[in-house]
Amino acid sequence: MAALPLLDTHGRVHRDLRISLTDRCSLRCTYCMPEQGMEWLAKASILSADEIVRVARVAADAGITTFRLTGGEPLLRRDVVDVVRRLAGLESPYGPVQVAMTTNGIALAPMLDDLIGAGLSRLNISLDTLRRDRFTALTRRDRLDDVLTGITAAAGSGLRPLKLNTVAMRGVNDDEMVDLVRFALDHGAELRFIEQMPLDVGHTWSREAMVTGDEILAALGAQWRLEAVPGRGGAPAERWRLHGPGTADGATVGMIASVTAPFCGACDRLRLTADGQLRNCLFSMHEFDLLPSLRGDAPDDVIDDVLRRCIWAKLPGHAINDPSFLQPVRGMNAIGG
Ligand code: GTP
Ligand code: 5AD
Ligand code: SF4
Repeated sequence: MAALPLLDTHGRVHRDLRISLTDRCSLRCTYCMPEQGMEWLAKASILSADEIVRVARVAADAGITTFRLTGGEPLLRRDVVDVVRRLAGLESPYGPVQVAMTTNGIALAPMLDDLIGAGLSRLNISLDTLRRDRFTALTRRDRLDDVLTGITAAAGSGLRPLKLNTVAMRGVNDDEMVDLVRFALDHGAELRFIEQMPLDVGHTWSREAMVTGDEILAALGAQWRLEAVPGRGGAPAERWRLHGPGTADGATVGMIASVTAPFCGACDRLRLTADGQLRNCLFSMHEFDLLPSLRGDAPDDVIDDVLRRCIWAKLPGHAINDPSFLQPVRGMNAIGG
């Protein structure tokens, strides 16, 4: 008999487990990490592939059907293809299992065939600018060409939907909105703009520097007619169909307005960090430690119980806009996005 699904006290059923494979990254995006002085997770605490797959198997039994691999940069992990293969082989009584990944794209091209062969079904790739000087300033690494090579490889693969993520920043890339959308459309991808969230290690977030979803929609609206796409479900992105110059029938754009238009009411996600902590929200102040159970001799029931306690403790929303809001101790790179 199937285990009960992961239900919280607000009636939300959880279907999506985001698994951070590492807190390390090949970039140093200003909205995520400082250039130097990062304190990395201790190697001994990083989950092995066996430990990750065990948590995922128990989670699949409890109704998780999507696993999204994140980082830092998930492709830095040497056993990533093996992890994909083993996760893709899991079964859930609640439906087919999908393995997706969010990557910065740098190491993607040479690994893509192996990832697809292992069962990867979807890719989201970060792309904040198309201008090399900007990319280098924003990420502190001169790697735009590698990212574009990765996106071209993904575009040439059968993986769809393919999504490109752009964190919108005032005075940094807010004049590139239309160019980025066109670039995505040319590559068979959906561009999604993201409002910057207060999750960087250096605590440099400011509301003024954040470009709001409404501002972005206004910029796009000057170029195209936007028609809302219904049926968002638990997805963070609101989607719009584009009508007008240079758009084919299926052309869409997405907006992840976590700050000005929170979507917590429909949230179906939980997170596993690279060091074995379960988080019921990006902004959780409390984590549920799976390491003792995984490294002791605990049976699967104990892991299932930790999953359920984590979900049961989930708050209704992230409260970023509340005066008492406190940024979580972990940065985005160690939470997994
Ligand atoms: P799909 O919708 O399954 O394609 O993936 P996704 O958009 O959830 O994943 P992705 O890793 O591409 O994340 C895009 C942006 O959405 C990132 O900035 C994430 O931090 C943000 N995001 C993802 N899930 C949540 C969430 O539950 N809450 C909030 N506030 N932001 C989220
Ligand atoms: N706010 C919003 N999105 C962020 N990302 C990283 N840091 C932030 C932040 N502070 C995005 C990355 C990537 C995804 C995992 O999260 O650009 O696309
Ligand atoms: Fe790396 Fe992603 Fe953080 Fe940029 S946002 S430094 S790509 S983990």
